[in-house]
Amino acid sequence: MSDFESIIHEVSWQSPSNIALVKYWGKHGVQLPSNPSISFTLNSCRTKTKLISRKNDLSVRSIDVYVDDQLKSDFKPKVEKLFDHAERRFPFLSSYSFEIRTNNTFPHSSGIASSASGMSALALCICSFALAQEALEESDFWKSASELARLGSGSACRSLFSGLSVWGEHTSIQGSSDKYGIQYDDVHPDFLKYQDTILLIHKGQKSVSSTVGHKLLEGHPFAEIRFSEARNNMDLLLDCLRKGDKFEFAEIVEKEALMLHALMMTSDPYFILMQPETLAAIKKIREFRKQNNIPVAFTLDAGANVHVLYPEDTKEKVLKFVQDELASFCEDGTYLCDSVGFGPTKEKC
Ligand code: DP6
Repeated sequence: MSDFESIIHEVSWQSPSNIALVKYWGKHGVQLPSNPSISFTLNSCRTKTKLISRKNDLSVRSIDVYVDDQLKSDFKPKVEKLFDHAERRFPFLSSYSFEIRTNNTFPHSSGIASSASGMSALALCICSFALAQEALEESDFWKSASELARLGSGSACRSLFSGLSVWGEHTSIQGSSDKYGIQYDDVHPDFLKYQDTILLIHKGQKSVSSTVGHKLLEGHPFAEIRFSEARNNMDLLLDCLRKGDKFEFAEIVEKEALMLHALMMTSDPYFILMQPETLAAIKKIREFRKQNNIPVAFTLDAGANVHVLYPEDTKEKVLKFVQDELASFCEDGTYLCDSVGFGPTKEKC
């Protein structure tokens, strides 16, 4: 390595968003989940991040974050927090200054959480830098990147793997951990090609941040029941995924989404994040499933948008249904078409 290369290091990763099927809602300690969760890794909704590290003689860390080429200070606190965690693991980082250049492939104001794709892309960049500085073994790379992503945003630790990911210790899943996500492979191949059409019901900012939302479970009257229901739902869902039972899959995934919102609606203070259009879309989806015998399902994040999940071989019929009957519930008629994807990719700088 030349002197110049050792004082400036550049690395770039693209990382996807993910959509939880069994939800993570409630945490304790340092970003440890109160129950295990499982998600589809998405394909098109991605964040691209470049990390430029410069050797710093002043030993005062500085981090500049550029989003879509604009210097942004509002992202800094979360990024600083991630670097605090990263420095504990990789002390050499304290003698560098950082420039982060990032952009999303999905519209910024779409209400789609960018923390999973954003934090996972940044954690991958930091771990690549640590690898280049020989502060990390190649064999520990993915585990360390997932662990670091989790410290930035819990759900981000599930964005690093192809297909489906599990985060949180679960007795029947070997290798599962509260500290990092793992790839989950024991699934019928049809689920690896599932489609996710995201109805953008309300494009504005969410009215409750996840951080505030997770806190609402502290002292929540239904918290313990929720954590045990999530464990049961994991078992039921794993069984469907193995067998390829798509109708049962739909029932469990929908119950999970509604339970997440039921928890928010019964918190103190409470939050109602579904809009009338969210409920109207849900009603249509359930009717369409019954009338057409097509296992289309919905799930929700902590917001008003609806994720429509369905098998690839029903794509033509479901997309027609979305266009004819659901698009009118979306703000400006906008929806995004995504599918299960293959995880992050390292980019050329
Ligand atoms: C509803 O991962 O955004 O999307 O750890 O505080 O950053 P923090 O929370 P975050 O929570 C995601 C919650 C969820 C469900 C899920 O993705 O499992």
